[in-house]
Amino acid sequence: MKRIGILTGGGDCSGLNAVIRAVVRKGLLDGFEIVGIKNGWKGLVENDTMSLNINTVSGILPKGGSILGTSRTNPYKKEGELQKVKANFKKMGLYALIAVGGEDTLGVASKLVDDGISNIVGVPKTIDNDLSATDYSFGFDSALNVAMECIDRLHTTAESHHRVIVVEVMGRHAGWIATEAGIAGGADVILIPEIPIDIEEVCSVIQKRHSRGKTFSIVVVAEGAKVKGSGMVLQEQKLDAFGHVHLGGIGEALAGEIEKKTGYETRVSVLGHIQRGGSPTAFDRVLGTRLGVKAVELVRTKKFGRMAALQGIKIVDVSLKEAVRELRTVDMELYGIAKIFFG
Ligand code: F6P
Repeated sequence: MKRIGILTGGGDCSGLNAVIRAVVRKGLLDGFEIVGIKNGWKGLVENDTMSLNINTVSGILPKGGSILGTSRTNPYKKEGELQKVKANFKKMGLYALIAVGGEDTLGVASKLVDDGISNIVGVPKTIDNDLSATDYSFGFDSALNVAMECIDRLHTTAESHHRVIVVEVMGRHAGWIATEAGIAGGADVILIPEIPIDIEEVCSVIQKRHSRGKTFSIVVVAEGAKVKGSGMVLQEQKLDAFGHVHLGGIGEALAGEIEKKTGYETRVSVLGHIQRGGSPTAFDRVLGTRLGVKAVELVRTKKFGRMAALQGIKIVDVSLKEAVRELRTVDMELYGIAKIFFG
């Protein structure tokens, strides 16, 4: 019986278990044996696995996180780890590997294909929704709905206290969560990494709004947004194994500036990992399931070096290399729609 390994890497999100369940159910139907590799690439470095069968994946569909665990281990970062990955791939008796992840995890998968582990297929995951070649990655819709609900809740308290509330959402390079949660939640200003923040402009929008009698405002800011021409140090310089800075702090800095410049009492709410946890939405459960089924289909038909993707309403396959070549930033037409409702 041919054995397929599956791993989930990078930041977790809702919907990972839907993919794992789908891979196991479809894989078993197609006559494969499925093995779970724990904690992303770390499990391949350390030969850490768990068996997956119809019973181990029973009941996991509505659960957030990943039953396999995840990590930000990058085997290309530490001397000797690539050799360990190759050796353990053999030791585990793997015929193929399904890697579920975002730009970093899939970037490693794509490199491994070139470095001799050719039987790999990818499944796109990220709450940031910034992978090109797929219209949506699962996890985004769940995060978006959490952020929208939080914006709704913050509206009522902002209104009662006549305050400005700055809501910091996730979004490292792309402001998809900020833009769509902002549209869905009726934000008065939305700030994203794609457009440097002009604090004077933000304050003027809020002041205009107040002058027409609205004594509260909601400002949504993506954690990766930066202030135009500012020397303000907003981010910690801690790096992960992929060289990414640990983000956070833009909301706090922005709230301080808004309060100072407008005189309006301002609070900040950082949603953080709340957006990554909890039960997936129906959209993410269905998308994760469809992508998982497609990944097994790609293995069965030997379409390696490919990634399952959503294009329009169809699940298709695209080149893994192409998929990680560049990030997909916010569509400016969509941002233009959001702007109509500013102020
Ligand atoms: O890449 C997804 C993401 O949620 C980003 O939006 C965020 O910057 C990052 O992960 C946070 O990662 P960590 O789990 O390491 O705090």
